[in-house]
Amino acid sequence: MSAAAAPKARFDQVSKRFGEGERAVQALEPITLDIAANAFVCLVGPSGCGKSTLLNLLAGFDTPTTGQVLMDGLPVRGPDARRGVVFQQGALFTWMTVLDNVAFGPLATGTPRAEAERIAMGFLEMVGLAAFARRYPYELSGGMQQRVGIARALANDPEILLMDEPFAALDAQTRELLQEEIKRIWLHTRKTVLWITHSIEEALFLATDIVVMSARPGRIKARFAPTFAQSTAPGLATSAEFVRMKAEIVGLLHDEARTAQRQEEAR
Ligand SMILES: Nc1ncnc2c1ncn2[C@@H]1O[C@H](COP(=O)(O)OP(=O)(O)O)[C@@H](O)[C@H]1O
Ligand SMILES: [Mg+2]
Repeated sequence: MSAAAAPKARFDQVSKRFGEGERAVQALEPITLDIAANAFVCLVGPSGCGKSTLLNLLAGFDTPTTGQVLMDGLPVRGPDARRGVVFQQGALFTWMTVLDNVAFGPLATGTPRAEAERIAMGFLEMVGLAAFARRYPYELSGGMQQRVGIARALANDPEILLMDEPFAALDAQTRELLQEEIKRIWLHTRKTVLWITHSIEEALFLATDIVVMSARPGRIKARFAPTFAQSTAPGLATSAEFVRMKAEIVGLLHDEARTAQRQEEAR
């Protein structure tokens, strides 16, 4: 394989089991998945199928039961600033201003304060929040807090962004605006992204790769390579190809959701 084709990240026969004996939960069957550099990979699948588990393994928050998680060909050994994580809700430092939240990463790696603040302001501008730099997180709406979280992750200049349902707690309108913002940022930075979402439309709108997972134990059921991520044209979601792909993925997920539901009831 040529160097150019080497994946940014690779799950190599990765499985995950939580606990021991009868209470053990097989969260992931051995999964092999490559994440190409500059790709925007969306993971979709029913609740409990192991999406967060997979993302946490790449983040370095947990270790696989079998197999290996690799970044640039080297095993992931723990959290690393090269992988930026954005959680479902804020996770901001409540006692720090917005600016200090975003400057935190650069400061932590020894960047002088003036330079760290300059970097932070740049990313706050990118997410449209420069005017709120001196505010505190509690003064911001949920959507604005999420944008600060994204700016904070970007300020570390990570090579991969890991986002676990980052818009799940937001209302539909805010969500749509942020999706447009994320697309703009991705087209501008071409960061490699691993993104978990429950919204198939969101996945189709943003992703270069959609990975559909099966109900627990998680396996890869299908992959899609939509082309809508490259476009900022209005009305994408009503194009024939978008609607067709959406119907296909909805169909795939429908059966999996039923299986997941039965598993929940059996617990
Ligand atoms: N720390 C843990 N201990 C035990 N079971 C866990 C743990 N984390 C996740 N699980 C289980 O593993 C499965 C996959 O969880 P998760 O990755 O959070 O799913 P998803 O993000 O797709 O909803 C679920 O059945 C969940 O209950
Ligand atoms: Mg999850």
